[in-house]
Amino acid sequence: MSRFICSECGAISAIRTGKCNVCGSWGTVMQDISASAPNVADSNSERVSVRSVDVVPPERIKSGITELDRVLGGGWVSGGVTLLGGQPGIGKSTLLLQTAGVMAQKGLRVLYISGEESASQVALRARRLGADSENLYLFCSTNLEKAISEVNGHNTEFVVLDSVQAMRAPEEAGWAGTPNQVRAVAQMIVDVAKSKNVPAVLVGHITKEGRLAGPMLLEHMVDTVLIFTGEGYSSYRMLRAQKNRYGTTDELGVFEMGERGLIPVDDKSALYWNRADALVPGVSMTVALEGSVPLIAEIQTLCTATTFSYPRRTARGIDVNKLHLLAAVVEKRASIPCANYDIYLNIAGGLSIQDPSADLAACAAIVSAAIGKPLPPDCCFLGEVGLAGEVRPVTRVGLRLREAAKLGFTNAVISAREKKDEFPLGINVVRVKSLNDAIREYLV
Ligand code: TYD
Ligand code: MG
Repeated sequence: MSRFICSECGAISAIRTGKCNVCGSWGTVMQDISASAPNVADSNSERVSVRSVDVVPPERIKSGITELDRVLGGGWVSGGVTLLGGQPGIGKSTLLLQTAGVMAQKGLRVLYISGEESASQVALRARRLGADSENLYLFCSTNLEKAISEVNGHNTEFVVLDSVQAMRAPEEAGWAGTPNQVRAVAQMIVDVAKSKNVPAVLVGHITKEGRLAGPMLLEHMVDTVLIFTGEGYSSYRMLRAQKNRYGTTDELGVFEMGERGLIPVDDKSALYWNRADALVPGVSMTVALEGSVPLIAEIQTLCTATTFSYPRRTARGIDVNKLHLLAAVVEKRASIPCANYDIYLNIAGGLSIQDPSADLAACAAIVSAAIGKPLPPDCCFLGEVGLAGEVRPVTRVGLRLREAAKLGFTNAVISAREKKDEFPLGINVVRVKSLNDAIREYLV
């Protein structure tokens, strides 16, 4: 009996529908021709007591790029498969070519399989990046079977496959990039990586909505999923692990894309805000959570004397009703005459924040703008503000503080009710009960 699979979410159904019943996407449900994917675990295995199992730390091979090694948890894992996702042009091929070059220069036999670019294109880029080496081999074709035999044939020690959507598994039906093909390609790479005990990296494309293209199953098949992001206008790139079977998913790698490829950024404090010489009133920093990913956000406000009978409130990046509410709290609890001001609030960089943890930063920015006194640039504000002007705890404060510390913040203002054990080293934490406490700390 045939079955159908959605290329967006991987949902399986018995009939073909125009719209996926699970994720609601149109035109993504296609016939699933493949057999079900083989199980990773050994089917003949027997039960064991957890205590009797030898715990062997995974064997790691350094990528040679500091920020990448940190995100991976110390380097590539032998036999482990990593999926590197990111939007087109973000620098996935560049990053992998650079690590491939460094590893080859250290003497490892590296195979870079490209189904997207010709050998001369890749070689030209490798030369420009200083990544060329005798041990770096290119295989530029979309034929996966041949690529696998190259891996098998030459004692390859590190494999890059760029990209999982461009390659085609000849035995499988369908165009390259269809769910069946993506799954078959990934499975063949997983198999060869495990059988040869070499690390392999797959490049994966990302849809407009920011999801990895292809079946969800892809993320389950690999050991590590790395996501490479960046804002269009900025040369900075962020690397995070979304899934990591061999390490944490807390680490953040930062790179700058330049003339000669990606340069690891050690000092992250220069990323988001101006250093002390350009302090402006009305600017505050916070760490919002997007899913489980912490994001530093800069809140900018402008307060001008109103000429309207109702003062204007304009918000970009947060709900305007939220701004009305916070302005009322600031007026009533911090005695700032907000009714006399038009207030404009903007989250810099086009971010949009629903997280109430940004309340305190927004209030601090409004007060700072109204009284014309800047906030310190190395301080972030994390708290929900209630109608009584009280500062309430936020979810996962430890994760947010770690992110802030990683990016060079030295001070954080949080609710006095946060539990103590969550605080990381390297950041001075100021605990406040109310908005007024926070104002007294920095704006009086
Ligand atoms: P690329 O690695 O091809 O992106 P992806 O594989 O994620 O699609 O990077 C493409 C962009 O990076 C391209 O627009 C040019 C820019 N770039 C540089 O600015 N400097 C460089 O040294 C390289 C190689 C690329
Ligand atoms: Mg590419």
